Amino acid sequence: MTIGRIRDDFPMLAHSTHFNCGGMAPLSKSVGAELLRVPTAIIEEGPARLLAHDDDFLGIEKARATLARFIGADADEIAFTTQFSTAANIVIEGLPWQPGDEVIVTDQEHPALLIPLMNVVRRRGLKVSRLPVSHNADKMLTNFRALLTDRTKLVAVSHVTTDSGTRLPAEEMTRLAQARGSYVLFDGAHSVGQFPLDVHALGCDFYAMVGYKWLLGPYPSAALYIRRDKLDDIDVTWCGSNMTQTGSVTMGVDDLNWIPGARRFEYGGRTYSYDTAMVAGLSYVERLGVEAVQAHSRHLTAYFHDGLKRVPGARIHSPTDLQAATGIATVSLDNRDGVTVSAALRERWNMIQRAALRGTSVRISLAAFVEESDVDLLLDSLATLATE
Ligand SMILES: Cc1ncc(COP(=O)(O)O)c(C=O)c1O
Repeated sequence: MTIGRIRDDFPMLAHSTHFNCGGMAPLSKSVGAELLRVPTAIIEEGPARLLAHDDDFLGIEKARATLARFIGADADEIAFTTQFSTAANIVIEGLPWQPGDEVIVTDQEHPALLIPLMNVVRRRGLKVSRLPVSHNADKMLTNFRALLTDRTKLVAVSHVTTDSGTRLPAEEMTRLAQARGSYVLFDGAHSVGQFPLDVHALGCDFYAMVGYKWLLGPYPSAALYIRRDKLDDIDVTWCGSNMTQTGSVTMGVDDLNWIPGARRFEYGGRTYSYDTAMVAGLSYVERLGVEAVQAHSRHLTAYFHDGLKRVPGARIHSPTDLQAATGIATVSLDNRDGVTVSAALRERWNMIQRAALRGTSVRISLAAFVEESDVDLLLDSLATLATE
């Protein structure tokens, strides 16, 4: 497979230019096939194998092991959670909070993280500090050190920020936070699938991710990494069937014997097809090679940045240093706000992207299926808008 020449695998790319992998990836034929595999068999043969939770049929444990390997974790440290928000709630609601405990977030976090967090802040009387995102890692680390205190209980930040695609100095932040006794939760919605990741080497406590962006999986799909030695620090809040080793009509409190591993947080009926299709997307990325995906994004980012020099009034708000850049390029035009530019790109040129940085800019995702010719069209469109 050659990166950037894979569009035939994504039927929708025949009629649209897709710069919004950071929102929702296009669905490839192989991911779509995995998504339909179990439901199709159920339609044909009935639900017996589903009812029996037959893993040879469902493929969940194989998918869990594949996902774990991809991010440098062990299979028992992974829970499939369907939504990022659910993963965030599991950690945030389960931590042993005391009134006055402190939380650090950045000023670019997504509501999927902030809403569960603010809800626990409201209920438990916590304090929140906001770290300004900067493309300068040293500056960020200096500001971060100043916010950390002995009361910091949780650092909950994006590994790559959603609006400006800034890759945070995750390793250094993890060490600094843990040295002050804090837990570290990363929002990995925009990192997993963009570059190689090893959560064990990173050393963080929790890492939440989605499948439907850079892993090229279906919507919704998500998972949570819980470092093995932190599993029991997370108290079980919401729970249900299949979370205990035994369960019967006579069970009492003493029978709450949770199953081992992060899997204990998967309860009730599950979206099995979405979980395995998420891993089918991941396997597609693996076949391309995650390093090759990263190199492709860097190449397109350089190409885009270079082309923007010819667009009057264009300003880049994502990192311009290619080593720090990700597949997210955020740009504004001096003569129009980002919401207007975004709407024009969509309506006039059928280009899928979104407004960013509080409506001032547009966010362009330069993913594996984007080609130079797509970027040429985008540059022409931006040049038209900049001079009209
Ligand atoms: C940074 C970030 N976190 C989380 C999410 C999604 O969370 P959920 O799956 O709960 O909608 C997104 C989706 O756009 C995101 O950009």
